[in-house]
Amino acid sequence: MKFDVVTLFPEFFDSPLACGLLRIARQKGAIQIRLTNPRDYAAEGKVDDYQFGGGAGMVLKPDPLTRTLHRLAKGGARVIYFTPKGQPLRQSLVRELTRHKHLVLVCGRYKGIDERATTLSDPLEISIGDYVLAGGEIAALALIEATSRLLPGVMGNLDSAETDSLENGLLEAPIYTRPAVFKKMEVPAVLRSGNHRAIADWRRRESLALTLRKRPDLISDAIFSKNDLSILLEVLDGNQDARL
Ligand code: 6GU
Repeated sequence: MKFDVVTLFPEFFDSPLACGLLRIARQKGAIQIRLTNPRDYAAEGKVDDYQFGGGAGMVLKPDPLTRTLHRLAKGGARVIYFTPKGQPLRQSLVRELTRHKHLVLVCGRYKGIDERATTLSDPLEISIGDYVLAGGEIAALALIEATSRLLPGVMGNLDSAETDSLENGLLEAPIYTRPAVFKKMEVPAVLRSGNHRAIADWRRRESLALTLRKRPDLISDAIFSKNDLSILLEVLDGNQDARL
């Protein structure tokens, strides 16, 4: 998968791309990342200007960006523009994006980008949460890492990505390793029982209960079996006087 990142701060990406999963994904050739500074496409290097109508903050001019995108998105790349006005980045969207061979990721800075700059490339607008960042760079890194780890051959254990929190719309059950007892806290006996069926049931129950308690907003989009529904009802009943 190829990522073209359009950013006024290419150096922002140096160390994140040089460690851990992203370093390995690049070494294996699963991803290619190219950084482009729109400043290189700007007349006299001027990329920003004042806002028409007045108001604080500089705005990225349309011309350097349009030229950059025209150059990079040739050959049918999908263009993504990071903005708090975009659709929230969720695991389901991350998975959909892995179907693309080439993404062009546009990182805004300052107050924003001239409305006309990205219109031409019909970008998918994405936000990484309801808070304001100084620019789209962190969002671009989040998207690159989240998609890269799903690509074939990047993670050693594919199954590990499939059982992640949110991969099935729910939070993952708690996990444990040795020692079996740590500061008087015991690993649940079922996990040491060797009974795979009982373990799967326990994990499903924990996952449902945890999601209901911590992220009830996820419940409406998840897919449930009849058995899940009865577990959810039980959890709700049991929680009536508890902390829900
Ligand atoms: Cl994608 N950009 C900026 N500037 N702020 C954000 C964001 C993106 N997502 C959440 N906040």
